Amino acid sequence: MSDKIILKTENLGITFGGLKAVGDFNMELREKELVGLIGPNGAGKTTIFNLLTGVYQPTEGAIILDGQTMNGKKPHQMAKAGICRTFQNIRLFKGMSVLENVKVAFGQNMKYNVAQGIFRTKSYWQEEKEIDEKARELLKMFHLEEFAGNLAENLPYGQQRKLEIARALAGSPRVLLLDEPAAGMNPTETAELMESIENIRRSFDLSILLIEHDMSLVMGICERIIVIDYGMIIASGTPYEVANNPKVIGAYLGE
Ligand SMILES: Nc1ncnc2c1ncn2[C@@H]1O[C@H](COP(=O)(O)OP(=O)(O)OP(=O)(O)O)[C@@H](O)[C@H]1O
Ligand SMILES: [Mg+2]
Repeated sequence: MSDKIILKTENLGITFGGLKAVGDFNMELREKELVGLIGPNGAGKTTIFNLLTGVYQPTEGAIILDGQTMNGKKPHQMAKAGICRTFQNIRLFKGMSVLENVKVAFGQNMKYNVAQGIFRTKSYWQEEKEIDEKARELLKMFHLEEFAGNLAENLPYGQQRKLEIARALAGSPRVLLLDEPAAGMNPTETAELMESIENIRRSFDLSILLIEHDMSLVMGICERIIVIDYGMIIASGTPYEVANNPKVIGAYLGE
């Protein structure tokens, strides 16, 4: 972790109709930092990701990536700028193979133009080969290489979740947003996934914001945890600080 702040929000908020789903959200994410974003169901966690990725436009406040205000940017612009994500509900290309799913995600950064693609020029094949290799490397990181030729939809659920992360990494993110990546996994798969997330942070030059609502899952790997409830930050700090905060205990026990 360095001291450089890569992503910052200032009083970020959004109101749907009369309901303030997120308000006064102030966060700083440093380079290579792994921060947990936790909170009960409906607290506003996914809404924060939707704001950070341009799916929703904030009704208040600012999003600042590496010193640049990102308000008004569309999802593809956010992705290009380096904020990549996974979704709470898996969104893979079901009819495509595992390998193709990752290659398509790389393809969004491809250099060759349509004409080169149609006429299959030498540079097209060169780039195609590079992408194939890079995609296979990513699959290897998640122990998915043996399934490269299988249809994505036929993978067990836990593997599909990992494939989603591999896809997000293909976008060369500076900030990776993971929305409940362990949802639906058994305890063994979850423990493995948490380890992979730590590895990713170490091997790639990126910061991670990790949503989870089971606090115990993120405690072990996050340097810092932000807790939200009813759209507002109720606590933040080290896992130890947060776990011993009476407000957090109250939110989780529903007091
Ligand atoms: N597009 C929308 N229109 C209206 N209300 C919305 C919209 N998106 C989110 N909300 C509301 O904002 C609140 C926060 O929802 P959000 O999905 O961010 O919660 P969450 O913390 O991700 O919950 P979960 O743990 O269940 O995934 C909820 O009350 C939700 O109904
Ligand atoms: Mg959610």
